[in-house]
Amino acid sequence: MASATKTNCIGILTSGGDCPGLNAAIRAVAKAAINEYDMTVIGIQDGFRGLVENRVIHIDAKMVSGILTTGGTILGTSRDKLHKMPMGGKTRDMTKVAVENVKKNHIDCLVCLGGGGTQKNAYRLHEEGGIDVMTLPKTIDNDVSGTDVTFGYDTARQIATDAIDRLHTTATSHHRVIVCEIMGHKTGWLTLSSGIAGGADVILIPELPYDFDVVKEYLLERRRRGSRFSIIAVAEGAIPKEEPAKANKKKKKAKVKENEDTATDVEPPNIVEEPIASKIARRLQELTGIDARVTSLGHVQRGGVPTAFDRWLCTRLGTKAAQLLAKGVYNVMVGYHAGICKPVKLEEVAGIRKEVEPNDPMIVSARLVGTCMGDKNPFA
Ligand code: F6P
Repeated sequence: MASATKTNCIGILTSGGDCPGLNAAIRAVAKAAINEYDMTVIGIQDGFRGLVENRVIHIDAKMVSGILTTGGTILGTSRDKLHKMPMGGKTRDMTKVAVENVKKNHIDCLVCLGGGGTQKNAYRLHEEGGIDVMTLPKTIDNDVSGTDVTFGYDTARQIATDAIDRLHTTATSHHRVIVCEIMGHKTGWLTLSSGIAGGADVILIPELPYDFDVVKEYLLERRRRGSRFSIIAVAEGAIPKEEPAKANKKKKKAKVKENEDTATDVEPPNIVEEPIASKIARRLQELTGIDARVTSLGHVQRGGVPTAFDRWLCTRLGTKAAQLLAKGVYNVMVGYHAGICKPVKLEEVAGIRKEVEPNDPMIVSARLVGTCMGDKNPFA
């Protein structure tokens, strides 16, 4: 039997890079909202772009049945931001249009599933557009504050760990150094945890700039001590000691005002860059004379079925979201803290990146098992 609720209609969108668990989260929110609270659930396609273009679908219980284990997102996603959206060759602020469409669809609260960017965009929509929102923390990067863990992270960690395991056997056979590049944007959570789980010999993360000479000495010493292979797990955002300032420099971007007259030209798409692992492998091969190879895991880490933990986390977060929506609790992110799902004010989360602290217990453990973190040689 349906319970009384303060919310009649919700919209759900997924935004930013996809990850395993999105469908499990959509299913959890929608099933609880429909079955328990009799809410109308509207799915918005392709993130904030779909909201601006009013591409919406009605979600019923049947539509979310059988999607717990599927990867990707049934709604589609995009990286578009409302206040800087490419439209007709120009970048425009489409917030007003989004607000109109939320109202047109009689949505009481917009549930946004996404990472750090989505937290900011949802908060902005609330602050500037007056729309009630709720978010769930999704990303393989685990860099959203206000939650112990984000969904998608556990699955990506397992994929990266499996890859490191496989690289071990081939690196051992050929007595090589293999540099494995792992995603994570500007943080090292994914690389650090999969590097520990996979027993990587060197782990390089953005939060600890690395020194080529340190890594070189460590690799040579390992060889002298009889280990004729080494696995280096490197985060895509890792930076050498000599260039942190350059790497951290923020790109200056044109500010976009509200009306179309101030629209700016659309920026060209991202250049497909060489993996940083290639540069590292090349340099270390030169410095040590040891044969080196590169593996960049890339989007493999975002594909396929979610792990048991991610399915469980998504179900917990999604159903908690529905419970909060029924009570009329809005403008929060549903976070996970020490086993409990609870709301965190969006203003305490938006725009704050959760980074690995230099004294994080994971770093302490890695060092205690002799892993080189790129800043100090464990043998020295
Ligand atoms: O935020 C998730 C993430 O996979 C990051 O780890 C990575 O830097 C980025 O997205 C890749 O984005 P895209 O799919 O747009 O290439």
